[in-house]
Amino acid sequence: MKQSNSNLKFPKHFLWGAATSAHQVEGDTHNQWTVWELENSLSLATRSSYHFEDLENWPDIKAAAKDPNNYVSAQGVDHYTRYEQDFDLLQRMHMNAFRFSIEWSRVEPKNGAWDVAAIEHYKQYVKELRRRGIEPVVTLFHFTLPVWFDELGGFERRANVKYFTRFAEKIVRELGIDVRYIVTINEPEVYVGASYVTGEWPPSKMSKWTAWRVLSNLAYAHNQTAKAIHGINRRYKVSIAKNSSYVYAGDNAWLSRLSANILQYLKDDYFLKKVIKQCDWLGMNYYFSDRVYGYRVHNPDVHLSDLGWDMSPENIQHALERLHEKYHLPIIITENGLADATDEQRQWWITQTLVAMQKAMKNGVKLEGYLHWSLLDNFEWDKGFWPRFGLVKVDFKTKARTLRPSALWFGKIIKYIRETQ
Ligand code: BGC
Repeated sequence: MKQSNSNLKFPKHFLWGAATSAHQVEGDTHNQWTVWELENSLSLATRSSYHFEDLENWPDIKAAAKDPNNYVSAQGVDHYTRYEQDFDLLQRMHMNAFRFSIEWSRVEPKNGAWDVAAIEHYKQYVKELRRRGIEPVVTLFHFTLPVWFDELGGFERRANVKYFTRFAEKIVRELGIDVRYIVTINEPEVYVGASYVTGEWPPSKMSKWTAWRVLSNLAYAHNQTAKAIHGINRRYKVSIAKNSSYVYAGDNAWLSRLSANILQYLKDDYFLKKVIKQCDWLGMNYYFSDRVYGYRVHNPDVHLSDLGWDMSPENIQHALERLHEKYHLPIIITENGLADATDEQRQWWITQTLVAMQKAMKNGVKLEGYLHWSLLDNFEWDKGFWPRFGLVKVDFKTKARTLRPSALWFGKIIKYIRETQ
């Protein structure tokens, strides 16, 4: 590895880290997702064979996928109480950045009523990161909402955006100078698609009209919140974490090329154009590409992750270059990774990604950080606990953590890069 290491060149202050979200790791949350999980765990378990039995690893995941408890976040991986132990793991991998989300439902369990202990928790949390020389990247909305906000109509109503902005301002004032990087909204189209188009996530509505309204309101929410945060202090660096795939035509037919362009526009630019003026940088979450034939996406099914997603880590280069050329902002990769329970693919995936990042940087992309999804095995939304995204393996019964071989390797790479730049 030494040989190829020496070709890796990254800026001195590059952010090397991992990412999580509160509901997926903390445990004991009470929000609109918790309510939905309890109502839907049985049907998710019953329908699991329909969704997953074609996967090669079905025999390995079958027991978990058919168990209703798999779909209830419950104790999560108990990160809420074990966060110091988890920060030790970041340090063991020589990381200097960590992305996490603040659970709004903890901080404001009732409309307008702040929970002082929860706020204190996050203040300590951030201080603990700072003490270890780790840059916090704070997300404010990562798919979960307080029940009271959901009951008011959530982001379906533009008039509700003021509550989100109020929460954001409160958090930013409380965390103060310990925080610089803020992500207002995680993956707007993924949330809207699953919650309002396919109905797979709460509130399980299937209405394209409502979906469009929620997407517009999320853009409005970002803009209002970014303005409010900058009003507190211009030093804050605000962005969204944009789900960004690389869409390409699988053949040279005009229809394939046209469809790829339209799809890429709808996936990326439609939303980005609405918020870009209120972004200081661009957060990019990359997991896969979309290959288009005619007007359909048909990905190669030769190299698949545990979730059956096409693995083309190298295409992150094109996704980065495209965003750079269109928006000219510094970019941080706010999520990137794969479900890989046996850890056979992760090292290869990260290597391909680092090489692609280097190529993109040579071609002018101002890349400032890489945050791997995820630090820990966690609760993968409507799929539950079986997809293993963690650099750190978690025993869900004992909550014991073990760095996977790929994590030990990645830690050495980061150390080498940071020491030699
Ligand atoms: C989300 C994460 C999720 C990951 C893997 C992203 O869509 O932000 O919460 O766990 O992808 O599916």
